[in-house]
Amino acid sequence: MSTSKKRETFSSGLAVFFATLGSAVGLGNIWKFPYLTGQNGGGAFLLVYFLCILFVGLPIMLSEFYIGRKTRKNAVGALEQLKPGTQWKNIGIMGVGASCLIMFFYSCVAGWVYFYLFKALLGDFANVTMETAKAQFGSVIMGPLSPIVWQFIVLAVVTAILAMGVKQGIEKITKTLMPLLFVLIIICDIRALTLPGASEGIYFLFHVDFGQLSAAAILAALGLAFFKLSLGMGTMMTYGSYFTQDNNMFKTAIKVAFSDTLVSMLAGLAIFPTVFSFGMEPTAGPGLLFMTIPLVFSQMPFGTILLIAFFFLTAIAATTAMLSLVEVPVAYLSEEKGMSRKSAAIVTSSVMFAVGILATLSVDKASVLGHITIFGLGFFDLFDYISSNILLPLGGLFIALLMGYSIKQEEVVTELSNHGQLKIAGLVKGYFFLVRYVTPILLIIVFLSSIGIIKF
Ligand code: PFF
Repeated sequence: MSTSKKRETFSSGLAVFFATLGSAVGLGNIWKFPYLTGQNGGGAFLLVYFLCILFVGLPIMLSEFYIGRKTRKNAVGALEQLKPGTQWKNIGIMGVGASCLIMFFYSCVAGWVYFYLFKALLGDFANVTMETAKAQFGSVIMGPLSPIVWQFIVLAVVTAILAMGVKQGIEKITKTLMPLLFVLIIICDIRALTLPGASEGIYFLFHVDFGQLSAAAILAALGLAFFKLSLGMGTMMTYGSYFTQDNNMFKTAIKVAFSDTLVSMLAGLAIFPTVFSFGMEPTAGPGLLFMTIPLVFSQMPFGTILLIAFFFLTAIAATTAMLSLVEVPVAYLSEEKGMSRKSAAIVTSSVMFAVGILATLSVDKASVLGHITIFGLGFFDLFDYISSNILLPLGGLFIALLMGYSIKQEEVVTELSNHGQLKIAGLVKGYFFLVRYVTPILLIIVFLSSIGIIKF
């Protein structure tokens, strides 16, 4: 499926589902979802997150699928084709920027995962305790050289796969390894849920206490929903442009959102019981995953092998998500700027590596560049905040406005119903109601409250 000359599509409905799920499932589920839930008080945050998926995530995902498949172009080209000569294409340009910002820190965290896999292969986690788990994470992120080297390796792998354009390979990887990841997380869950004191973790995850919920937490839940489902920056438009013509996009959107949320929940059910059982802090932040998972497997039969398998599958999940992230600028540069796929992949990854180093060196206050802050945030947090909490929801707002108010409804109905083959009249009505009234209004309210203009 190369994006130049003759455009190909994914080979079947199943491939569409797994490739799209491969983009959605990644570090967001296994790393970010648990630590944000931990930092924002558990159950109430989770509930808001579910609502964001339902009322904002699903309609935006469907909109992106529509735009991509209708035009069969990269994000910028697609919007230009839909609304020629207008400013709408800037949503795509903003998406290219968001993709870079996300990759600056995502490649850093993926580097830690690759490094942990390497360490697990060396047997470094035998007899790990809470103290050694914390110390190991500290030394991995502090480097300063090793995390940069691993970040480089991550980007080299992503560039090589993208430059070869082996989408068939990606299809196969996602189809076989995604189900395996499910199984492995379930094994983690069984272990974590049988630890002494596990019930406290479950209570934390499901007990809803609205007293814990700030406007900042609501914005974080919204940003997480966009980040998780790869929305607001043209990724799902780009993937939509590779969908088969007979794909039922409503079904795909619902299945992807549901499965992705399930993986996040399963990850949460592995991590929080462990956190409470070992007396750790749920608010530990970005290190939460790396400090708990070695402990989960530590006293288990075949623990070392399972730990290797866990980090291997997490590395695969992170890599397939990165392929979809980097695909946005690569498809743009190769289709709109006449670069070859190979040069586009190399140029993009080089920029991501050069600026990504800033994120890697500023993870902790004690890191080499940890003392530099902009708006009170270090580079790592700044890249994350601007992309997840500002650019993606803003991209989503514009997409909702475009679909709700600027595109002929009949055209959308024709495309979503596969030219009348699917009977989806009721769903389409619901979709337009959300995309015209609910989604944009919710997005605007969350924005205004997060900058303090309105107060709950
Ligand atoms: N959805 C991915 C995750 O949860 O890890 C991250 C991501 C991929 C975000 C692609 C945005 C994107 F366009």
